[in-house]
Amino acid sequence: MTRRILVTSALPYANGAIHLGHLVEYIQTDIWVRFQRMQGHTVHYVGADDTHGTPIMLRADSEGITPQQLIDRVWQEHDRDFRSFSVGFDNFHTTNSPENEALCAEIYGKLKAAGLIATRSVEQFYDPVKQMFLPDRYIKGECPKCGAKDQYGDSCEVCGATYSPIELKNPYSTVSGAKPERRQSEHYFFKLSDPRCEAFLRTFTQTSGALQSEAANKMKEWLGAEGEGKLSDWDISRDAPYFGFAIPGTDGKKFFYVWLDAPVGYFGSFLNYVKKQQDAGNTIDADAFLKPGGDTELVHFIGKDILYFHALFWPAMLQHAGYRTPTKIYAHGFLTVNGEKMSKSRGTFITAESYIQQGLNPEWLRYYYAAKLNSTMEDIDLNLEDFVARVNSDLVGKYINIVSRAAGFLTKNFKGLLAPEVISGSKTNSPLNFKALAIDEEVSKAYENREFGRVIRAVMRVADEINQYWDAKKPWELAKNPDASLALHEICTDCVNAFYKLTIYLAPIIPKTAESVANLLGVTPPLTWSDLGTRPEKLPDQRALKVISQYQHLMTRVDPKQIEALVTANRESLKPAAPAAKPAAAKAPENTVENAAATASTEPAHISIDDFSKIDLRIARIANAEHVEGADKLLKLTLDVGPLGTKQVFAGIKSAYDPATLVGRLTVMVANLAPRKMKFGMSEGMVLAASGDEPGLFILSPDSGAQPGMKVK
Ligand code: MSP
Ligand code: ZN
Repeated sequence: MTRRILVTSALPYANGAIHLGHLVEYIQTDIWVRFQRMQGHTVHYVGADDTHGTPIMLRADSEGITPQQLIDRVWQEHDRDFRSFSVGFDNFHTTNSPENEALCAEIYGKLKAAGLIATRSVEQFYDPVKQMFLPDRYIKGECPKCGAKDQYGDSCEVCGATYSPIELKNPYSTVSGAKPERRQSEHYFFKLSDPRCEAFLRTFTQTSGALQSEAANKMKEWLGAEGEGKLSDWDISRDAPYFGFAIPGTDGKKFFYVWLDAPVGYFGSFLNYVKKQQDAGNTIDADAFLKPGGDTELVHFIGKDILYFHALFWPAMLQHAGYRTPTKIYAHGFLTVNGEKMSKSRGTFITAESYIQQGLNPEWLRYYYAAKLNSTMEDIDLNLEDFVARVNSDLVGKYINIVSRAAGFLTKNFKGLLAPEVISGSKTNSPLNFKALAIDEEVSKAYENREFGRVIRAVMRVADEINQYWDAKKPWELAKNPDASLALHEICTDCVNAFYKLTIYLAPIIPKTAESVANLLGVTPPLTWSDLGTRPEKLPDQRALKVISQYQHLMTRVDPKQIEALVTANRESLKPAAPAAKPAAAKAPENTVENAAATASTEPAHISIDDFSKIDLRIARIANAEHVEGADKLLKLTLDVGPLGTKQVFAGIKSAYDPATLVGRLTVMVANLAPRKMKFGMSEGMVLAASGDEPGLFILSPDSGAQPGMKVK
């Protein structure tokens, strides 16, 4: 049966760059979509920029442009980034669209007619200079407990106290610096506490099968026990000025809160797509996807931080406005880099754009993420060393290696022709092909269940077997023996054929590479699952392998230097963003929480003493210093670190020091820096030197009395 699936990824905020964290989601979704298409299913994959809300309005303001100008510019950037990583949205739209506005008005009207909208007065901070209500995270002041200055309204970074924003002493608006007032205003609420909503949400979250079990359990907590009344109404309005859609019937004074119109933006993008297709002569039955009762599927991919919005508010809105509800909500975990939250100061807050600019291949990242992804909400770690190792040893060293070895013999000895009797295949002369085909079911099931790590493991297992077979058969020796020509031809063909099958399996993950492989083997892309040749329908003749063209490299290895350059390019000095708003790490469901500008975009300019003590600083005596042949910046230092022994360090201080003057001096080194293999040898640490904007480099010296090996703390 052909499935019809409308797939979405969460809509990225239109005030920040796409980064490697976002890409976890977009790549995950794209892989799943490509897999479904290869199975012959009909998939519409839509997205959009999430353009409304206070942070975007203030950001545009601080740049001296209109919100529209800001979101237009960012749309171009996002669109470019998604294309670079082969994230193949059928339509990437904007929430600031007429389709979305009409849908929001309609849904709101239906909810109102159903008696699910209420109004009530809410007290909020008001900036009298900016003349607008401000979300709490734009307010700072003195800690009510310890008096520390410049603390946010929920907790003190100095003494750790937690409190409510009204308790702050001498509060000020981070936008204008003015003293905020508390003002009342009438807000509109979606009555989530209504028994109809609660009953629906219990069923939807617990028995519909839409949620992962961990997510269903979380929702159970949020819903509380029956009759407990734990669900509170949801504040869906904001006062002017606000960048968003005016609420009908409020004279332009009230606007829909961004989180109301954002998910509706999924449908807005879809309708916009349907219209474009219609104009191009392709009819899509939109109602079949948006109205209840049909057999289509609606599948949302999201991060775990926005589960609440997608599993409660959104389905409740849909249900009571006469729309269909989601078939599946797939939540994934957060990306960490080298085991830690992405960090601007460490250079691990890496943008999609910089990855491309450094010349890294997007398919490497898609491969690495796939290897790490599963169906749970666990965080996934991008370990940069592991990234290099896996891409180089597995993707290139095992998979690409197969064809790069076999292709040469086929071209040179057989004019590129593949042995037809191997392609049509009996187990005896195409054992590798049979091994490859044997994992079809395992791979297909893993894809469907978003267990992409399993896909990679299965494929690499077969790649290992192919390489072992190759090594055992020693084709390079067979090539010297004219009597072994048939055997050589069969072995090489079998390898290439099995490699082709693995390529079909990997195509959702590395689509560009798969396309090149198809071209190399004379098959018109795109590849589909039926190209495996295992389906009952016979493979049409033009899709059977016959020849291999002259081999050109399909993929290079990662050079660790590229990764270093990437991290350097993304390392930023710590400076507060303007206007300063508290970074909302997780999008909390409270009514007053605005959209989180760019999650983790600013960090506290402090580290803890524990962070500092991770660095092992030691006094070192420079036992030897010399020039390095071929290096124009480096000196090679041999450091005596007392009980820690001697360490070799390459230091970029050649411009400032004559090696002879360094020998015998004491200085300070970082002794626990991971050893790094450089072009000229291993570097086992780092010496510290001061530098500023002016030329000049100054290494440190301890006061007299310090001994090699002493700890600096
Ligand atoms: N605009 C909202 C979503 C509205 S959907 C109707 C939003 N935008 S976001 O730009 O902050 O995030 C977009 C998606 O990227 C979210 O699903 C979020 O979970 C995901 N990620 C953002 N940072 C991430 C990581 N560091 N790691 C993994 N996913 C991350 O939320
Ligand atoms: Zn305090």
